[in-house]
Amino acid sequence: MKLERISSGIDGLDVMIGGGYPFPSVSLVAGSAGTGKTTFAMNFLIEGAKRGEQGLFVTTLSEPTQWMLKYASQFNFIQKEYFDNEIKYADVGTLLQKKGYEKLLDIIDEKIAECMPQRIVIDPITVVGAFFEEDYRLFLFELVNILKNWQAVTILTGEVKPGEPYPPQISYAVDSVILLSMLEEEGTRRKYLEVLKMRGTNHTSGKQPMAITTENGITVLKSRF
Ligand SMILES: Nc1ncnc2c1ncn2[C@@H]1O[C@H](COP(=O)(O)OP(=O)(O)OP(=O)(O)O)[C@@H](O)[C@H]1O
Ligand SMILES: [Mg+2]
Repeated sequence: MKLERISSGIDGLDVMIGGGYPFPSVSLVAGSAGTGKTTFAMNFLIEGAKRGEQGLFVTTLSEPTQWMLKYASQFNFIQKEYFDNEIKYADVGTLLQKKGYEKLLDIIDEKIAECMPQRIVIDPITVVGAFFEEDYRLFLFELVNILKNWQAVTILTGEVKPGEPYPPQISYAVDSVILLSMLEEEGTRRKYLEVLKMRGTNHTSGKQPMAITTENGITVLKSRF
């Protein structure tokens, strides 16, 4: 049986992962600060919107819609008209301080049921770990179970702490992990994208150079494959 796949929306990535993300699946995009995680998530949702799919962007950072629209307007590939239409935005940041993790799961499940998205983003998921500490593992386990029950591809973004190769707890639970990184070479910082794992997929391995541009967001450069 052939796996159904959907385009990642990232220039140059689909050919590295057998045509796109397996549908349905739950994936992680991880990297340290400023490596392009949110931009990746935007590329992914905009690709869906262009195809008439529904998308849901959940932020855990208490950032209002206005903030998000300002961020989005810095990029030419993001058409603002998609927001509140094909792409719905939900801020769950305020729930982190007050309520237990069960409430957060309920709200995420509710939001998904409301807009029936084919593409879901939770950006960033690792913030939840700082609030729920010992409950974080349980939260992740239940979250991934909920997400697997929907006909959707979910991208969770994760912050990588200095010295860590990837966020440890979440990496085991998901179907795929893409790592974004920055390395200093000859005095300049270069950005890289690496597919660490993707279940059911014969993917390219190793760090591939990438760029972030105003025009297209993330592009994987073709110099190494
Ligand atoms: N309009 C733009 N055009 C080109 N490059 C941009 C633009 N805006 C941001 N960038 C690049 O993208 C990087 C930030 O990307 P992004 O916000 O997606 O990273 P992130 O991993 O989500 O960061 P954080 O960990 O802070 O959430 C910036 O550091 C900058 O290098
Ligand atoms: Mg971000």
